[in-house]
Amino acid sequence: MKLFLDTSNLEEIKKYHALGILDGVTTNPSNLSKEGGDVAQKVKEIARAFPDGDISIEVTETDPEKVYEQAKKIAALAKNVTVKIPCHEQYYAIIEKLVKEKVSINVTLVFTLIQSLMMCKLGVKYISPFIGRWEDIDVEGSRLLHEIRLMVDTYEYETEILAASLRTVRNLHDAIIAGADVATVSPALLEKVLYHPLTDSGIKKFVIDWQKLGSPQFP
Ligand code: E4P
Repeated sequence: MKLFLDTSNLEEIKKYHALGILDGVTTNPSNLSKEGGDVAQKVKEIARAFPDGDISIEVTETDPEKVYEQAKKIAALAKNVTVKIPCHEQYYAIIEKLVKEKVSINVTLVFTLIQSLMMCKLGVKYISPFIGRWEDIDVEGSRLLHEIRLMVDTYEYETEILAASLRTVRNLHDAIIAGADVATVSPALLEKVLYHPLTDSGIKKFVIDWQKLGSPQFP
């Protein structure tokens, strides 16, 4: 299973990349706009900081022809960039065209099994079902991941399921159990799941017990 960091913050990317647990980064217009500055430059810096990672950058145009042109420009920023395009019917034809042109595509804002099927048929690299945004309106989100997994496996599509909009530890746990190929997590959620109080107190107890023996060294 791959783990992506859901942020546009370069320092957070460098910090967690150094741990060796990340496989890529997902950004979106909201978190890129928080960072400010020259967006193309920022994307290049992220791609350079994580050359073996898959870096998703989202289109910001809305007119389909402009989305197509922008997708090509984003893809040209670095060789490890994947272009995110919203799962809207007006973009289906250009998604198909971009896939045929070998542009790596991550279809975002996916909310249903049937939207997922359509994107598998177009041959995109990733589909990003948004779990937390379902839960914002009190709909259980993880069931969707199980259903998409079943669909992808039954019909043997190569599209990878990228569980997105994960807000809680439980959301991430459920994405793992559902067999998502990728989970993208915010730095705040990653910080939370990497910590366990029993691990911390366990280390402290072992140190104290070893000190009782005079902290001997192994030969
Ligand atoms: C990732 O690709 C998505 O843009 C992100 O997970 C959305 O998360 P949010 O619903 O918390 O904004």
